[in-house]
Amino acid sequence: MAGRIPRDFIDNLLSRIDIVDVIGERVPLKKSGSNYTACCPFHNEKTPSFTVSQTKQFYHCFGCQANGTAISFLMNYDQLHFIDAVEQLAESVGLEVPREGGHDAAQDKRKPLYEVMERCARYYSDTLRKSPEAIAYLKRRGLSGETAKTFGLGYAPPGWTHLQSATGASNDQLLSLGMQIRHEEGRIYDRFRERIMFPIRDRRGRIIGFGGRILDNGEPKYLNSPETTLFHKGEELYALYEARKAAVSEQRILIVEGYMDVIALWQHGVRNAVATLGTATTPSHIETLFRTVPELVFCFDGDRAGRDAAWRALRATLPALRDGRDAHFAFLSDGEDPDSLISGQGKAAFDAFIRSALPVTDFMIERLSEGLDLSGVGGKARLAKEAKPLIETMPEGIYRQLTIRQIETLIGARLDVAAAREETPPPAPAPHAPTGPATPAKPGTGTQRRRAEKSESLLLRRAATLVLQIPAVIANYDESRHAPVADTDGAALLLDLIKQVRGNPQISTAALLEHFRESPVFKGLSKLASAPLLPDNHEMDADAAAEEFINILRKLRLLAERNRTGPVPESHRRGLLGIGGRRLRPPEER
Ligand code: CTP
Ligand code: MN
Repeated sequence: MAGRIPRDFIDNLLSRIDIVDVIGERVPLKKSGSNYTACCPFHNEKTPSFTVSQTKQFYHCFGCQANGTAISFLMNYDQLHFIDAVEQLAESVGLEVPREGGHDAAQDKRKPLYEVMERCARYYSDTLRKSPEAIAYLKRRGLSGETAKTFGLGYAPPGWTHLQSATGASNDQLLSLGMQIRHEEGRIYDRFRERIMFPIRDRRGRIIGFGGRILDNGEPKYLNSPETTLFHKGEELYALYEARKAAVSEQRILIVEGYMDVIALWQHGVRNAVATLGTATTPSHIETLFRTVPELVFCFDGDRAGRDAAWRALRATLPALRDGRDAHFAFLSDGEDPDSLISGQGKAAFDAFIRSALPVTDFMIERLSEGLDLSGVGGKARLAKEAKPLIETMPEGIYRQLTIRQIETLIGARLDVAAAREETPPPAPAPHAPTGPATPAKPGTGTQRRRAEKSESLLLRRAATLVLQIPAVIANYDESRHAPVADTDGAALLLDLIKQVRGNPQISTAALLEHFRESPVFKGLSKLASAPLLPDNHEMDADAAAEEFINILRKLRLLAERNRTGPVPESHRRGLLGIGGRRLRPPEER
């Protein structure tokens, strides 16, 4: 099993990176006062409610309540696992991720595999430089050396057994990576020979597979890496790593069918294109793409095969089509592909082609009506029957309404579709599971403040919020005079927070939160970390916060002395965040 990543390391890592850079690379941020804002990448909106605090190293969306640290951001935005997010951040500042005690066996095994793939790619690109024939081929296809370099293109020379000596990797490694094949009689040979090599990168830029194109004519034209522990075709998109920057700034991604299409488009200045990897578009592809941009434009061949592939892409798109997202389908004329179009007729012609794309609903209705006689009852009934199950996969919103209305117009009758499933709400707490806190008392109005003062748990929560958001509030904390009596879960948690900050006074909100990632209170603390300290988002002065903090601790001690002469009444044992299955919320807030 994986040794844990030491806390100190996470602290150190988060102190070296800046969440503003991490998010800014992916989402255009605007400075606004002491924070940065943007339209939230986790839900669709027209006015920005996503803010990034440099001081706290924390992001928060007032619209959809998404929040977290730089690590959380990578987990949610790039869809990485915790470990991968930490590794990616560590890599960006040149740190090696240490493990307590043992090692992560799976990770330990994968890491050298990425290195082997990297070495294979280097071997192929070195070989390309020495292969006039391969260079001539790429030139003939209009590629510059710079484009070839951007995509790491290479050449696998003729010959059956180069890779092992060229990379120093073992047969086991090369076999498991699909770079070698074991012949029935046991002989082992290189999978790719005499082919232009296209490295396939994952979202972190690591090479996970290759596509290989034969020079000129021959079969098969393309040979791809098989599925391996690193490479999953249904989840990966060719060039997403390279295209992400342009895509985010244009808010749109083009999905084409081939490696060479992506590369030719890039060569002509269209840098927001990705390709599926010789497979159908999957719902997982669509989710990944919509997390990056709100608009997708699919470019398919105009022939039957292209139209069928587009239809599969449409079916994968419909369930993801909530308001604010958009998809279009563009069809090329016979024998043309994006590469031949832009290479032959230039960028203006290609742009015009993209503008000609069909809106998703038009394509859907066009296809559904194909071959139907809509002047007769039979045709109309058929259309209704085919449309219904598709519409039922769509979330509530403008596209769904529009599609229903268009079809109702065509059939001249009401279309009876089941209600849309709700958009997945933020994960609800299980009945008895620990849950996030109620919204912390907003200081400000007299009644609210009085109510807060009455409640020990609200005091605890306010104190915890202060420590989380402004860790420096503990500057005047004196253990003997101020330490809360740790006879409730909430007080124990507050003590724990204080202890963490004393151990590392420079700690940021984000790093402090990361200490609790695996704790049941993580979600609750994350909410506290993003709750406004003052009404109307006024910035709270650090000295005022420190003073309030110490005052709260004093009050808590007084309350404890007054109330704790007998057994602790249930009403006082309630936890700060309801940990331990006790009351989840103070009764006065139910
Ligand atoms: N493909 C594949 N195996 C094949 C043919 C195609 O995996 N035998 C995949 C590749 O990802 C390829 C894409 O399908 O990039 C599109 O194929 P195709 O249109 O035939 O090739 P082009 O991209 O046009 O390639 P080129 O321009 O180099 O002929
Ligand atoms: Mn082509």
